[in-house]
Amino acid sequence: MVAHPECWDMENEFREIPDIQDFAEEPFGVPVGESDVDKPCVRCRNINVHYGSKHAIRNVSLDVRPREVLSLIGPSGCGKSTLLRCLNRMNDLIPGCRVSGVVEVNGSDIYGREIDVVNLRKQVGMVFQKPNPFPWSIYENVAYGPRIHGLVDSREDLDRAVKAALKRAGLWQEVKRRLDEPGTSLSSGQQQRLCIARALAVKPTILLMDEPCSALDPIGAGKIESLIEELRQQLTIVTVTHSVQQAARVSQRTAYFHFGRLIEVGETDQVLTHPRHPLTEAYLTGRIG
Ligand SMILES: Nc1ncnc2c1ncn2[C@@H]1O[C@H](COP(=O)(O)OP(=O)(O)OP(=O)(O)O)[C@@H](O)[C@H]1O
Ligand SMILES: [Mg+2]
Repeated sequence: MVAHPECWDMENEFREIPDIQDFAEEPFGVPVGESDVDKPCVRCRNINVHYGSKHAIRNVSLDVRPREVLSLIGPSGCGKSTLLRCLNRMNDLIPGCRVSGVVEVNGSDIYGREIDVVNLRKQVGMVFQKPNPFPWSIYENVAYGPRIHGLVDSREDLDRAVKAALKRAGLWQEVKRRLDEPGTSLSSGQQQRLCIARALAVKPTILLMDEPCSALDPIGAGKIESLIEELRQQLTIVTVTHSVQQAARVSQRTAYFHFGRLIEVGETDQVLTHPRHPLTEAYLTGRIG
């Protein structure tokens, strides 16, 4: 029996789950479901991530379809945030973190030598669990991206870009008369929509969301979920959630991870209601978590 103190005591509590040793190499290493799709906008092949000696992502291959919402689910510590950060090279910022494998975004190898990481992160935006507005006004939070990326030529253009991003994030009506107030003066739910507006202001094609609702009350969370549904008309979204209900509401496909491995991926309805892998089922029925 392998001990995994991070997550659960299998020996005592989960005898009914097949022993993890049963999945030690193959077929544990081969995910159930369709991990590759036609014309993906994100294509990951054989991704491995190490933090020092810790092997956090193990040989994950996974595609994302254009304009879908893909939910990443799984127990704490299974590598969801780590994999998400591979998609816009945010792991580069973590000392000791090594990524290998191929990640293509819209056909380009984002770990290639010629890649401009600032430009990549413009194309692949990110929203974090805890809203993190800059310590500036609401206006300046949103204006920052278009300004540093040279997307606007005049103050009028910038005003238009800020308004458009705030509208897309569903925040304009609530803040249009207080644009000069600090971003931090907003409620948590509004701050999260401000962070989404900030990400949208540079016109990304892909948005990564790491548990975007977990610090919010149900009303704030509901607004973000509605926003995800609207944004999907124009954007591809990869989101991490601990809420299976949320994955069911917002995503078309869902991927289940376990100890750094992709276990199962497929249409959300199928994965959540008729999981094909016993570990997915164990997670969904609350026996892992
Ligand atoms: N900066 C880091 N340095 C060292 N190890 C890390 C670091 N970040 C994550 N890890 C380790 O990598 C593994 C995957 O972590 P990760 O944060 O990606 O999991 P997660 O699925 O997002 O978990 P959670 O649901 O709790 O957010 C864990 O074992 C974690 O301890
Ligand atoms: Mg995480």
